[in-house]
This record gives sequence, C-alpha cells and structure tokens, in this order.
Amino acid sequence: MEANLPKRKETRKSLRIKVISMGNAEVGKSCIIKRYCEKRFVPKYLATIGIDYGVTKVQIRDREIKVNIFDMAGHSFFYEVRNEFYKDTQGVVLVYDVGQKESFDALDTWLAEMKQELGPHGNMENIVFVVCANKIDCTKHRCVDESEGRLWAESRGFLYFETSAQTGEGINEMFQTFYSAIVELCDNGGKRPTSSMSAGFTKEQADTIRRIRSSKDSWDMLGVKPGATRDEVNKAYRKLAVLLHPDKCVAPGSEDAFKAVVNARTALLKNIK
Ligand code: GTP
Ligand code: MG
Repeated sequence: MEANLPKRKETRKSLRIKVISMGNAEVGKSCIIKRYCEKRFVPKYLATIGIDYGVTKVQIRDREIKVNIFDMAGHSFFYEVRNEFYKDTQGVVLVYDVGQKESFDALDTWLAEMKQELGPHGNMENIVFVVCANKIDCTKHRCVDESEGRLWAESRGFLYFETSAQTGEGINEMFQTFYSAIVELCDNGGKRPTSSMSAGFTKEQADTIRRIRSSKDSWDMLGVKPGATRDEVNKAYRKLAVLLHPDKCVAPGSEDAFKAVVNARTALLKNIK
C-alpha cells in the first residue's frame, strides 16, 4: 500500500459522474450493474421499485472515478418516480433483450421520455449512451440480430455492446469503454468529442437499410410501384447499389441489404417482359 502513495499524489483530480440505466422492465438492467459491481448473477427476477441507487469507484487510466449509478425501474407504472432522475446525467446505459423485439422497439420511446423530462434546454447531444443488447446467452430465442441493434445505436452516435449478465460476456468491456468515453467527455468541457460522433456512414444509408429490412416484397424493397418497367427497376436498383455497395458502405447490415437488393432486382426482371 505505502509504495503506491507517491503515485497517488501524481494522479489527476478525481471525477464524480452520474449514470442512469434505461430500458423496458425485465431486460436485465439491474443484473448488468450487479454483474459488474458485485461479480454475480441473480436468476430470480426482482423488479426494481422506482429507483435503486449505488456508488462505485472505478479506475480509468490514471483517474479515479466516483460513479453514482441510478438504476431505473422499467415498468411504466414508475414513470412518476423516474422522471426527476434524468437531469445532470453524463452517461446512459440503454438496455434491451435480444429475445424481445418490443424491448428493442421501445428504445426510441425511452429516448423520447428522457428528452421530454430534460425539457427544451436539456442537451442529449452531450451525454454518452451505450446500448446493451442483453441476454445474448439465450441464443434460441434471439430475434434482434447484431447488425440491427448496432445500426440503431451507431447511427445515433451511441456505443453498442452485446452483453450477457448471466455469463458476464461483454460486461467489463462495455463499462470500461463507457466510462472512458465519459471521462473523455468531461475532459472535453462536457461536450461529446467530435471523433465519437461520426459513425462512418450516413443517415440515408442507415434509413435505407432499415427500410429494406422491413420491406414486404421485391417491389417495395426497390421502392418502385408493382408493375414498374424494366427501366424503372434498373434505375431504382442502381441508386440503391451506389448507396449500399459494400466497398462504399460500412453501416452494419449493408452487405445483407445489398444482397437482398440484387436478389429483388433479379426476381423482378425475370417476370418483366
Ligand atoms: P426492472 O427492474 O423491472 O426494470 O427490470 P430489469 O431490467 O432491472 O431486469 P433484471 O435485471 O431484474 O432482470 C430480469 C430477469 O432477466 C431476471 O430474471 C434475470 O435473472 C434475467 N436476466 C438478466 N440478464 C440476463 C442475461 O444476460 N441472460 C439471461 N439468461 N437472463 C438474464
Ligand atoms: Mg431492475
């Protein structure tokens, strides 16, 4: 212990940060925090009542960080309790269950709730968000794949991690990267560094991949009306190919989307004289 004393004097001022957890009930928010702080997993579901609060210390490079964690209840019933805890937050752990599509679809609603509570002067741009695609150990029930989750997160400039509170997979890496990003934000005067804001792909590319994934047939996928001519199909195809070609597009899921577009065009052209 004593040998460490001179070193401690050299360390920079310790930092105090506030983080919150968000996401539907039962997605594993409390278990993720417990896995990281207490290195254990509780299989029995104990719903968080309102808010659970805890303090933990972490070391990020040469800094000691005191983290105030507010673990929110996901049930809509607790909205009144949750709403006052959104302000003065530097980081958000946003969780969904990869086996529960509704919990993934609800991520936008969680962001909207936070935005509303922060009010018109609240700035969500300067908060670090990490999205946890949790329960990846339940492979049989998985219905939201990695590219879909990653695309949602990265197109918003959020971090993305695949986690399992049960096995511990991804948990330490997630928190380490999350806290490092918050330290970087604090060192940058409370502003998200521009380097972490650029996802490497455009909103148009992300939206197009999402649209392709949810299209109901080949016409819809190419964005043409049923009964379109060869020229119209080819024109629509070329536009999408330029946008999504794997050499040009690094957005998660772009390769599959590109293949789907190629197949859709082939199928349509077969039946157009
Ligand atoms: P609320 O507090 O109600 O908002 O729920 P929560 O999001 O905090 O969920 P909690 O952490 O209490 O976990 C809900 C259930 O999912 C519990 O039965 C956990 O044991 C289980 N669970 C959490 N994480 C995992 C995981 O990674 N894998 C598996 N298989 N189960 C998990
Ligand atoms: Mg909980």
